[in-house]
Amino acid sequence: MRPTLLTSLLLTLGLPGLALAADAAAGKAKVDMVCAACHGATGVSVSDAIPNLAGQKTVYLENQLKALKDGSRKNPVMNAIASQLSTDDIANVAAFFASQSGATSTGKSALLPNLAKTNMSFPESYPNGYVKYHTINFPATKQVRYYYANPVAVAAAKEGRAVPNGAYLMVEVHAAKLDADKKPVMGPDGFYVADKLMFYTAMARETGWGKDIPDMLRNEEWNYSVYTVARQHRPGMNQAECLACHKPLDQTSYMFTIKELTAAVKAK
Ligand code: HEC
Ligand code: HEC
Repeated sequence: MRPTLLTSLLLTLGLPGLALAADAAAGKAKVDMVCAACHGATGVSVSDAIPNLAGQKTVYLENQLKALKDGSRKNPVMNAIASQLSTDDIANVAAFFASQSGATSTGKSALLPNLAKTNMSFPESYPNGYVKYHTINFPATKQVRYYYANPVAVAAAKEGRAVPNGAYLMVEVHAAKLDADKKPVMGPDGFYVADKLMFYTAMARETGWGKDIPDMLRNEEWNYSVYTVARQHRPGMNQAECLACHKPLDQTSYMFTIKELTAAVKAK
């Protein structure tokens, strides 16, 4: 093939690879905004369940991000993130993390303040006015979860509209009652019998609640929270994880259980 004007110019200048070189500074900008929420700004992660990336091999990082992007490596949080990275982004963030050092098995980075902070608070009147629309057994954790929606979410689902600001969804996570063999006791309705409330997970949206969240993680105006049984925020919650996993659901108001909500409220 005849060299193009550009490649022959680059060759003349002795810079054949320049156009393809990874840009670690551009990688750092992306890391500061998004990846730092979980992997830390220098690749020292924020929690025991998230890998350090500092000093990892460039090619390995690129290969993992490609596999997470095309889905051949499965992880719902990273699939949602990697699918938004271009080939250049992947080369750039890989070059940046490979250039970092300081990862140890015990070191941890702080959470990003804009993602650790939620605007939500526990609804005073709960469960008054809420509709229980769904139940799921979780055999692996021996839990049963109850799903509740407030009147704003119920009205939208009834009319088939996108779920608007003012909506509040609450999930009660209960430990199942166990029999003598430590197996969950099944109720007559096919769901585990609840024994003890463990915690709540929740999502809600209001005007302006998404504005401090980077686009790659933002779910419009939704915020997330986990509450203790005493209805207090659970310390150390990282909203980045909630946002990342719910992010691909932009066609269903970022809800996994929109079908169940719609079916339940239309039947009423
Ligand atoms: C919400 C938290 C979160 C964010 C934000 C996040 N990651 Fe991850 N990342 C994870 C988790 C959790 C894993 C482990 C996945 C698994 O178990 O397969 C992971 C795994 C990875 C891996 C594979 C590491 C290995 O050892 O195989 C790479 C590479 C990676 N992330 C890069 C990135 C980049 C680049 C960004 C920013 C664009 C990013 N991540 C943002 C949570 C996150
Ligand atoms: C690994 C992916 C994943 C992560 C991370 C995640 N969720 Fe979800 N979420 C789901 C799935 C799947 C459902 C559907 C039912 C279920 O499994 O409970 C759901 C359902 C929900 C619901 C009920 C409304 C709906 O969307 O259907 C709420 C509220 C919720 N999650 C809150 C949270 C909060 C708070 C966090 C962060 C602490 C979080 N989620 C993190 C996957 C995730």
